[in-house]
Amino acid sequence: MRRLLVVAAVALLAPGAAAAKSGKSLYAENCLSCHGVGGSGTSKGPRLRGVGALGADFYLRAGYMPLQSPHDQPTRRRSPFTRRQIEALVAYVASLGKGPLVPDPHQRRGSVPVGHRLFTEHCAGCHQVVGEGGYVTGARVPPLDQATARQIAEAVRIGPYVMPRFPKTQISDQQLDSLVAYVEWAKHPDDRGGWAIGHIGPVPEGLVAWLLAGTALVAVCVVIGKRNEA
Ligand code: HEC
Ligand code: HEC
Repeated sequence: MRRLLVVAAVALLAPGAAAAKSGKSLYAENCLSCHGVGGSGTSKGPRLRGVGALGADFYLRAGYMPLQSPHDQPTRRRSPFTRRQIEALVAYVASLGKGPLVPDPHQRRGSVPVGHRLFTEHCAGCHQVVGEGGYVTGARVPPLDQATARQIAEAVRIGPYVMPRFPKTQISDQQLDSLVAYVEWAKHPDDRGGWAIGHIGPVPEGLVAWLLAGTALVAVCVVIGKRNEA
């Protein structure tokens, strides 16, 4: 009986223990060189104690981490880790210090017009009116069409790279729901009555207009030319 109990206990503990271990070993292999032992930080990467599940979840799921060079701006790409590995890494980083949890936005409770106003006020300066991205001094500003609702909420609370951080005193959780609702809405150019040419911003859209006009002109010339030939 006692032996059976021991076997049961090991079976119950094993998955958790394995996840914790693999989080730690994944960290040792992929993160430690820049973020230091136990997230203590080095000259190549910031301290991770206290960034919590919030920071780890955002940076890992968006593929921002692991960074290739400490001087690169983190950018969105496919993560080299599986979902399970990400979960294990997030749990490990969160265990390094007391930190914020992953936010849980409710965009359905938000209002698109309110979100639009908030976006214009706080975000459009860098991300453009419909979240199409651009440049600010020293950084590329990514378009927002790939960020999930959760990642939008996370980015607002974290302020990755040169983006400012917006605490609850500045943007409440309720306002955040509206912001997420607006960004989600702006992902679908058809809904806003524009041309769906891949969301590439005012200049390229203008260029496309010129191209179309140019093509039409050439076509007219060809037709006129043919007529003259006849
Ligand atoms: C080549 C060095 C390098 C490697 C490897 C690396 N990081 Fe980073 N990491 C950085 C730098 C530099 C920053 C700061 C980037 C910024 O300001 O956005 C950063 C930022 C972060 C942040 C945000 C910290 C904050 O203050 O909000 C987290 C979380 C993070 N890294 C986790 C990881 C994890 C987990 C791994 C391993 C899978 C990893 N990093 C691998 C260099 C690295
Ligand atoms: C000062 C310019 C600036 C402002 C203001 C700003 N951002 Fe950002 N934002 C950035 C930059 C730069 C990045 C890329 C961060 C990185 O590479 O680590 C970013 C990244 C993001 C991302 C992640 C996108 C992805 O797919 O990688 C989201 C989501 C986001 N911002 C939303 C917002 C929202 C919502 C607001 C307004 C509340 C806002 N930002 C205000 C500059 C800004």
